[in-house]
Amino acid sequence: MSGATKEPNPDQRPADSRLAGRVAIVTGGAGSIGSAIAHGLVAAGATVIIGDLEVTDRSGTDSFDSESLDVSDENSVCQLVEGVVSRHGRLDVIVNNAGIMFETPVSDQERSAWDEMLAINLTGPMLLTKHAAPHLSQHGVGSIINIGSIEGDRCNPGHAAYAATKAGIHGLTRATAVDLGPVSVRCNAIAPGWIDTPLNASYVDNHPDRDVVVEELAKLHPIGRVGSGSDVADVAVWLASDESRFVTGQVITVDGGRTVRPSLPTILM
Ligand SMILES: NC(=O)c1ccc[n+]([C@@H]2O[C@H](COP(=O)([O-])OP(=O)(O)OC[C@H]3O[C@@H](n4cnc5c(N)ncnc54)[C@H](O)[C@@H]3O)[C@@H](O)[C@H]2O)c1
Repeated sequence: MSGATKEPNPDQRPADSRLAGRVAIVTGGAGSIGSAIAHGLVAAGATVIIGDLEVTDRSGTDSFDSESLDVSDENSVCQLVEGVVSRHGRLDVIVNNAGIMFETPVSDQERSAWDEMLAINLTGPMLLTKHAAPHLSQHGVGSIINIGSIEGDRCNPGHAAYAATKAGIHGLTRATAVDLGPVSVRCNAIAPGWIDTPLNASYVDNHPDRDVVVEELAKLHPIGRVGSGSDVADVAVWLASDESRFVTGQVITVDGGRTVRPSLPTILM
């Protein structure tokens, strides 16, 4: 689409040392947005450890370590944090990115699925925050980045559980900023809009008019395209760095302007 902004070419950026010497954990780092964030943090000089349910040995292919992690299991979270601090001597940044999504109307919602969504999307970030906090406060540069969603403030049909967890993440972000500000730990959230990942690919790929869906999706965005992992990663790197040193308790929307334009009848557009 003409007029759409282009994504920057990471190879053409100047060398970045904003996070040199810092150690970061990214949950759900084997997934699309998580791996983009992990690469972004590494490119800014950080040592990065990703945690995910199933990690493959990618030594030599990735510039970060991978550890097995279930964010809904407090022992697993605690083990990851203690292992990272024992191996690397510090922990400065955590990115609570792991998440799941399913669609069920609230009237059909099964308790077990609701509990699972809360355990992964909301309780997991609280557990990692709790276990990381004593380490994040050690060097005066601690930064927690929670991945929320535009659905933390608004909602698509059948997303009661997902939207509830993302609204919870936005609240947890503000609460954490208040509690940990006095020990020099900042906490912010990113609320992505439509990012092109497997989490939402089925909406596009399973539709009989796939090309039309892609075109219509782009039109929803004043910027003229859906988002990519690197669109989110660049904001995460900024939030992890000292450039955002006076920013805490904020939810930063990264959605190409989609949610600031009220909908109009298509015939008027
Ligand atoms: N894709 C989007 O459009 C979009 C929009 C807004 C917010 N988000 C959020 O961004 C985050 C990443 O989403 P994505 O699109 O990259 O999805 P993804 O499915 O590619 O990645 C999610 C990752 O989380 C991991 N994970 C799931 N359960 C886990 C657990 N119990 N413990 C550890 N890891 C676990 C998965 O294995 C996967 O690697 C999620 O929190 C999602 O809600 C995505």
